[in-house]
Amino acid sequence: MNETTTPELNSDDLATELSLRPTTFAQYIGQDKVKEQMQIFIQAAKQREEALDHVLLFGPPGLGKTTMAFVIANELGVNIRQTSGPAIEKAGDLVAILNELEPGDVLFIDEIHRLPMNVEEVLYSAMEDFYIDIMLGSGDGSRSVHLDLPPFTLVGATTRAGMLSNPLRARFGISAHMEYYDTTSLEEIVKRTADIFDTEIIPSGAHEIALRSRGTPRIANRLLKRVRDYAQIKGNGSIDRDITDAALKILDVDSEGLDVTDQKILRTMIDLYNGGPVGLSTIAVAIAEDPETLEDMYEPYLVQQGFIIRTKQGRKVTEKAYTHLGIAHQGELL
Ligand code: ADE
Repeated sequence: MNETTTPELNSDDLATELSLRPTTFAQYIGQDKVKEQMQIFIQAAKQREEALDHVLLFGPPGLGKTTMAFVIANELGVNIRQTSGPAIEKAGDLVAILNELEPGDVLFIDEIHRLPMNVEEVLYSAMEDFYIDIMLGSGDGSRSVHLDLPPFTLVGATTRAGMLSNPLRARFGISAHMEYYDTTSLEEIVKRTADIFDTEIIPSGAHEIALRSRGTPRIANRLLKRVRDYAQIKGNGSIDRDITDAALKILDVDSEGLDVTDQKILRTMIDLYNGGPVGLSTIAVAIAEDPETLEDMYEPYLVQQGFIIRTKQGRKVTEKAYTHLGIAHQGELL
């Protein structure tokens, strides 16, 4: 198996995520639309004894795309092989993985938009007609070998819909958009995790963590771990609203759940660029962040919450951002 880790996950997070991961739709909280459609498609494929059509999962990091892929495989009752776009460097790497699949298996490719082009091209016939043509040797002595594959399901995950090439996108029969979680779902996830950790949590504490998790279960569970530490050392181990508030203060997570980087983005746009419009790569340089990280991990939530808007001229901060940061502004704002 070709194991990979997501760059923004440290090993501590990864271990926690693996142990907390729901394995069935019944355990999976939130993403009701995706769950509902997937349950129907899975049931139909199982009834016909066919491989499920290929599935493309879109959405910002931390919303459970990998978990969803594992749940899909589990509900289908098949094996899952996991890899990622950047981990497959050569066409031969992909051929080796495809060659080991059994009928009906799920192949999960995370960050599928980062597959090298020559690898992506091998996927086209594999996805569409379950075969690959492999070139052996080079020059005059080269020949092509035809390799039939068992029917399988490719589950691809990507943070940005626009990054995928049209031919690849067209080969997915099912597309599912993962949304930011609502507060109620995040509360449930936090309570479930606290339960697994055997930590007492008062509903007001779960609510506060949910409110400040940027709609993202990965962040909710990360904050819960730190609040649990705080409660253990500074309180009696039980998590309530006050303990949560105090813990999040030392973590520099503000009342809207914005962390230091979110705040830096908004302040930079205001202080250096008078609120914009300013290009994403300019902001990235100013705060010494990778533009891709900025675009995938930070911007979507700031846009969704109305702190930033995207215009043709660049990104602009809104009145809500000025108000939230307590900064006065001159002139009209959006
Ligand atoms: N832990 C992290 N995400 C989860 C989810 N969507 N459902 C249940 N537990 C989770």
